[in-house]
Amino acid sequence: MAYRWKNDLRDCDVTPEAHFLNRRQIIAGAGALGLGSILGQGAMAQGLEPNAFEDITSYCNYYEFGTGKDDPSRNAGALTTSPWSVKIDGMVDKPGDYAFEDIQKAMSTEERIYRFRCVEAWSMVVPWNGFELADLLNMAGVKSSAKYVAFQTALRPDEMPGVRFPVLDWPYVEGLRMDEAMHPLTFVATGIYGRDIPNQNGAPLRLVVPWKYGFKSIKSIVRITLTDREPPTAWNKANPREYGFYSNVNPEVDHPRWSQATERVIGGGFFAKKQPTQKFNGYGEEVASLYAGMDLKKNF
Ligand code: MTE
Repeated sequence: MAYRWKNDLRDCDVTPEAHFLNRRQIIAGAGALGLGSILGQGAMAQGLEPNAFEDITSYCNYYEFGTGKDDPSRNAGALTTSPWSVKIDGMVDKPGDYAFEDIQKAMSTEERIYRFRCVEAWSMVVPWNGFELADLLNMAGVKSSAKYVAFQTALRPDEMPGVRFPVLDWPYVEGLRMDEAMHPLTFVATGIYGRDIPNQNGAPLRLVVPWKYGFKSIKSIVRITLTDREPPTAWNKANPREYGFYSNVNPEVDHPRWSQATERVIGGGFFAKKQPTQKFNGYGEEVASLYAGMDLKKNF
């Protein structure tokens, strides 16, 4: 295999794509809304080569632990991730505090190898483990009045050295439109390479929305609120001119201060050639219809 591993990974972890194909074939066979074909081309059959575990877990953005790329891996060990619960409230049938263990027991975990594109114009490929956000939301029972989902990260000044600085208006918050939240590509990650997700990557559970810039993928979630209003988002509040609510990866819409046409692949070395950025980060076949008729320059 072409994957690069860190020490103690088990052999069974070394066949991510085979596992993934299997599950999708089973789903397709069961005729579950044709999910197999929805996810078929963009999400799996592209022979993506995941980044090394070291790259994924040492080059991070998690400003609660500092703004340097290696601050999270140095500082996030202080985050207490057990016990952990997620408050699910707002327009749901079963609001409450859900213990992380109970969520894990209720969800069936699978692997998803996704491209990950940061708004800062770097990218990786990450083999996540977790479950679809839709499964979690359906567990709580979404009321038909709900139009958006709001997410919130833990705020622990004692454990998070970065929140002493007003870089963002803490706690970190994010949001999705309901159809985005329910899309089968929208994922809650609890692991990477078959291991529990490291604190610096958002333990014990974080969002992954592969067709949007990385900052939509909020880490260490403590609250999920179903609402009928577009929720505020941390980077949009900090700089609305530069960061919009949608934040779909789009090489045709530049950041006011840099081009989004290309991306630097992490792990490729300092002199590696940049690669072209794909619209919707390569997931257009699956998600472009969500934005039919919308001006993506205006709704950036
Ligand atoms: N979530 C929280 N709570 N705080 C953050 O600073 N950074 C975001 C996103 N989620 C961030 C966050 C940004 S800018 C990116 S690119 C990704 O997390 C980085 O995820 P990674 O470190 O696992 O690659």
